[in-house]
Amino acid sequence: MSRVSSAAVAAALVPDPRSPEPLYRQIYEKLRRQILSGAFSAGQQIPSSRALAADLCVSRNTVMNAVAQLAAEGYLEGEPATGTFVAAVVPAEAGGVDARAPAAAPCVPRSPRWSRFGARLASPGLRPEAWQRRPAPFRPGVPAFDQFPFDTWTRLLNQCWRRRAIELHNYGDPAGYLPLRRAIVDYMTIARGIRGTPEQVIIVAGAQQGLELTARLLLDGSDSVWMEEPGYVGMSSALQVQGATVVPVPVDDAGLDVQRGIDRAPTAKMAYVTPSHQFPCGVTMSLGRRLELLNWAEKADAWILEDDYDAEFRLVGRPIPALQGLDANDRVVYLGTFTKVLFPALRLAYLVVPPDLVDRFAAAKAAVDRQSPTPDQAVLARFIEQGHLARHIRRMRALYLERADALVRHADRHLKGVVQVSRPEAGMHTIGWLPDGEDDLDVSRRAAEAGVVAWALSKCYRHGVDAPRPGLVLGFAAYTEAEISEAVRTLAGVVGRPRRAFARSRL
Ligand SMILES: Cc1ncc(COP(=O)(O)O)c(C=O)c1O
Repeated sequence: MSRVSSAAVAAALVPDPRSPEPLYRQIYEKLRRQILSGAFSAGQQIPSSRALAADLCVSRNTVMNAVAQLAAEGYLEGEPATGTFVAAVVPAEAGGVDARAPAAAPCVPRSPRWSRFGARLASPGLRPEAWQRRPAPFRPGVPAFDQFPFDTWTRLLNQCWRRRAIELHNYGDPAGYLPLRRAIVDYMTIARGIRGTPEQVIIVAGAQQGLELTARLLLDGSDSVWMEEPGYVGMSSALQVQGATVVPVPVDDAGLDVQRGIDRAPTAKMAYVTPSHQFPCGVTMSLGRRLELLNWAEKADAWILEDDYDAEFRLVGRPIPALQGLDANDRVVYLGTFTKVLFPALRLAYLVVPPDLVDRFAAAKAAVDRQSPTPDQAVLARFIEQGHLARHIRRMRALYLERADALVRHADRHLKGVVQVSRPEAGMHTIGWLPDGEDDLDVSRRAAEAGVVAWALSKCYRHGVDAPRPGLVLGFAAYTEAEISEAVRTLAGVVGRPRRAFARSRL
């Protein structure tokens, strides 16, 4: 078999030194491609690693690593003494296709036969994009990433790994790592007025998994569910996947209007609410409404799913205890998340469920993904136990209050008469109300073109009852005052001059 000069082979394998991919990996991939394409034929000898390394100006180890990997995968064979050759039979490419076979007929797009549930669960439009860079103002739902106590977290992580405890590596309780469940109860009893034992806590992979599991376990396709209108789209999609009927119930200054819920669907099986800080409008549910809701749930034999997604950040006045703490009849499934308080990629949240629901929830968690990762849970447990969570929340509360003030101040200066920005009492976002009749989708699209994220409030309506009031959902937690000021001015350029008077404030 012919022997090709090292320089000729090397010419096809030159790695890119600026690529983040290791050099050996680039050489491996290029050589593999050459073999698969037939450029290097079966039995052909590959130049020595020494010669290739010299021609490629890389270390000999780099070439040897690439060659060893290809030999392990069956692309190359031979002995150091006799030389290295392209294997007689090269492994097929992924998918079982022989890449050296003549090109197949052009690929005809398939329309896979999804299950009905699968089609509801994962329509192509529902795939969220990855947020590669720092989010742009005013994308809501993201905390101040740069303020996270990375050093403390790293120290705790190192401590956990140094322990080499078997429980951190082994299969664990699907309901979650017990020290974390204890820490959550100890902290949340005081901070959120939650009642329950560590056994009632189920650790889930972010609030979204909590919503999903609860909907799957407690609802059938024929069931109706009250949803705040406007409300959290993540929940309405979880309900739609489940096949449940979403009954939009308007929200006013006191939160979900329970009487209108009763009028619309008295026998609903569940009410989904965000009482501490209604998403997205930001109102706090009054005590009267909380009691009314609990009363209805007891009479109607219904569940209440309380989503307390960002309640830690009470910016004005004292924290409002969770609705769950008022529940004397085990009607409330409580959901808290660390993805807003700490960071979204952590994917750790928790449910506090009535005692008789614990076993099924734990079994369901196991059925879905066995358990959440124990090492992360162990670090979080220590983070809470040692007071870092409380400290971080205090710092972020002060910072978010400053940023909320900055947003209101800059909006007063530049958006007067066109966007009325509510002063937030809690959380990480607020609403910029547009004059009645304004098309918030259009404003949101034009803002995006100018580089400002301003979600249209009308997207949070299911359009079932009252007409949506136009507005923009404006996150402020993750942005510096300078960024907020610039984005407000850009938004002012987008919305233009005052055209109409604002209608009297109503939700
Ligand atoms: C009201 C509400 N609930 C739940 C979530 C989901 O949080 P997680 O990232 O923990 O799934 C969000 C996210 O923005 C939210 O706004």
